[in-house]
Amino acid sequence: MEFPATRLRRLRSTPAMRSLVRETHLHPGALVYPLFLCEGEGVRREISSMPGVFNLSIDEAVKEVEACAALGIGGLLLFGVPDKKDELGSCAYAADGIVQRGLRAIKATKVSQSLVTIADVCLCEYTSHGHCGVVAQDGEHFQVENDASVALLEKTAASLAEAGADVVAPSDMMDGRVAAIRRALDEAGKPNTPILSYASKFASAFYGPFREAADSAPQFGDRRTYQMDGANLREAMREIEQDIAEGCDMLLMKPAMPYLDVIREARQRFDLPMGAYQVSGEYSMLHAAFQRGWLEPERAMLESLLSIRRAGADFIVTYFAKDAARVI
Ligand code: PBG
Repeated sequence: MEFPATRLRRLRSTPAMRSLVRETHLHPGALVYPLFLCEGEGVRREISSMPGVFNLSIDEAVKEVEACAALGIGGLLLFGVPDKKDELGSCAYAADGIVQRGLRAIKATKVSQSLVTIADVCLCEYTSHGHCGVVAQDGEHFQVENDASVALLEKTAASLAEAGADVVAPSDMMDGRVAAIRRALDEAGKPNTPILSYASKFASAFYGPFREAADSAPQFGDRRTYQMDGANLREAMREIEQDIAEGCDMLLMKPAMPYLDVIREARQRFDLPMGAYQVSGEYSMLHAAFQRGWLEPERAMLESLLSIRRAGADFIVTYFAKDAARVI
């Protein structure tokens, strides 16, 4: 039908009409809030490039968890900022590691049942060199060794599940880690702990502010030999296929806004539940514009989140989770 029989503006006439025909929705229950756990007591250290985001000691993190639960937020993604780092990232898989202790404290709260606790599985916050795996150095050259790294990631995942993580989320991009982690979880008596795989993770400049938050910038080289080249959509599909074959339960796509086409393609091809990570740089650049008065904070935030849902993500990991939950 052509104009004047069809007038698409008829269904935009009032807020109620627009609400009735809205195709995509945001729910607090489909938002995941990242937390950065650090040592100490009463510590709330703001990340300079991420206004409103903090390194939190466990006691402070517990308060945050209670606030998130009250807002109806669906889950938490936990990262550790340890005091000690070494070549093999041993604090990542220590029974008394910072995230392991944080998980026990969160699990002891009354609200813990209402939030899914997701533990990020990676070594970069725990290694002295800042890489996501074991580094072999040969003069000028270095290599991040796949299989040796996977052995440590397995231990990390099992240790986090034992400490109470509801879900483990490997973000390292080593090959074969999902199968190895599945086996390690089963052997640790955790056959019901799901794996949320960062199946499609690109080597991105948008992780910059996170590396300040988690103190995890590589001390030499970069992550391009393990994270994907931003030019490759088909390769992302192969990564996802592989992780599904290895037994992952859910997918995480990352970053979100610069890769909406990849999210869309994955949604069309795969039926697993899928989240997308609106990463630190996406948050920081929006905040930088808010600070200058160049964008309306609430509208720009909601529009950015809606774009990720519309592309096909079921849930969103976002530093805006609390701000968004207050207004949706
Ligand atoms: C750990 C990890 C990173 C992020 C999530 N997990 C950093 C990286 O790969 O360098 C980035 C999250 C963000 O930027 O918000 N490997």
